[in-house]
Amino acid sequence: MARSEPDNAARPPPGARLCALTELADPGGKSFRFREGSRMFAGFVIRQGETVAGFVDSCPHAGWPLAQLDDRYLTRDARHILCAGHGALFRLDGHCVAGPCAGEDLTPWPVEVRDGDVWTV
Ligand code: FES
Repeated sequence: MARSEPDNAARPPPGARLCALTELADPGGKSFRFREGSRMFAGFVIRQGETVAGFVDSCPHAGWPLAQLDDRYLTRDARHILCAGHGALFRLDGHCVAGPCAGEDLTPWPVEVRDGDVWTV
């Protein structure tokens, strides 16, 4: 499986519009995939109210994408991000609190909400 490195040519540049804020469930998540030639960048965003955080979609345990089903990143109570691979639980800031990579962090993918849309920064 390919990790999504920060220097990945498929990673969208700062200022790329990802979606409208209203396209995200509240609370909820959404996955994004970008391709450039043979390279792929996988990221996801998590919305809580007016706040949106982005992460590279690669679990620090084994590098797998976190969601088995599209956009299903949060636990039922929406308090944690779940990796479907082996059950790691992350706080919404990306810090792993349980599972095989406890103490590690998801790689941030900086995003911001501006004028009702979600953008890379
Ligand atoms: S790949 Fe995420 S817990 Fe193993």
